[in-house]
Amino acid sequence: MNNQWLDKIEKALSLDELETMRVDILGKKGTLTLEFAKMKDIPNEQKREFAKNLNKQKTTLTNALETKKTILMALALEEQLKCEKIDLTAFSAKSQNGAFHPVQDTMDRVITYFQNLNFSIEEGPLVEDDFHNFEALNLPAYHPARDMQDTFYTKDGKVLRTHTSPVQIRTMMSQKPPIRMIAPGTVFRKDFDITHTPMFNQVEGLVVDDEGVISFANLKHVMVEFLQYMFGEVEVRFRPSFFPFTEPSSEVDISCVFCKGEGCRVCSHTGWLEVLGCGIVDVNVFNAVGYKNVSGYAFGLGIERFAMLIHQIGDLRSLFESDIRLLGQFR
Ligand code: PHE
Repeated sequence: MNNQWLDKIEKALSLDELETMRVDILGKKGTLTLEFAKMKDIPNEQKREFAKNLNKQKTTLTNALETKKTILMALALEEQLKCEKIDLTAFSAKSQNGAFHPVQDTMDRVITYFQNLNFSIEEGPLVEDDFHNFEALNLPAYHPARDMQDTFYTKDGKVLRTHTSPVQIRTMMSQKPPIRMIAPGTVFRKDFDITHTPMFNQVEGLVVDDEGVISFANLKHVMVEFLQYMFGEVEVRFRPSFFPFTEPSSEVDISCVFCKGEGCRVCSHTGWLEVLGCGIVDVNVFNAVGYKNVSGYAFGLGIERFAMLIHQIGDLRSLFESDIRLLGQFR
């Protein structure tokens, strides 16, 4: 009997099969259990030999079952690992194309446009000092325009830059004119509603050349061409405005991309959307960086605002929520 079982155990193909065998041998009505039950009918003097023999069989079979179980479990695991292996190179018809985030995409388009006009790309630190963020930009400590900026201050008296204009200052202090640059980057202001987030992205532009070379007409031409490249067939208008670092200054509007200038909720029924600020560089800024006998223009724009207008997104905050349903629309 023993050898027969050992042979069967050896040939078991699955853990289930093995378990059935275990029950058939050692279960309540198992063959071996029934053998043990015969004990009561065995004459006393033979009991000892009988029990010894049965126990030996039990040990042999139990060991065989355990050994086989270990082997079958190892095989099962190997099987499982084989079919759960992920082939990262496999092509899946279900995969979806990725896309750039609308903010990144808009930023890239702006950068490419000015790169093609031979503007250099300049960078500066996000944590700025008062001099670069305000003072050198003609915003002295008492200046009321500092309130426009809603600044985050650090404990050691530095600021999170409120605009990309400090990069103008850094570039002029480290390079000689002529300058033709843009500074793309993140800026920070204490502001949070449907058109403001405490962190957003700007692109600053600065062109400086000899005195009398750069005029408002140059600025206007570049801005109109640029805005029509970004927004298509729009009208562009310049409104007199104020920035401490430019004089004269202008805010630039495009005809509303939603209603084509008819008047709608987005443009507050004016037919116009404000898209950037610009002007002729104030002489106080040139004095602060030690530039003499030069002329220049500067401009600054918000990338998120551009992205919202280009993609017709209603709430600026949704650009930062990483909702795959929104992002999927830009594929
Ligand atoms: N720095 C201004 C702002 O953040 C934008 C600007 C830049 C305006 C350059 C004029 C010239 O609002």
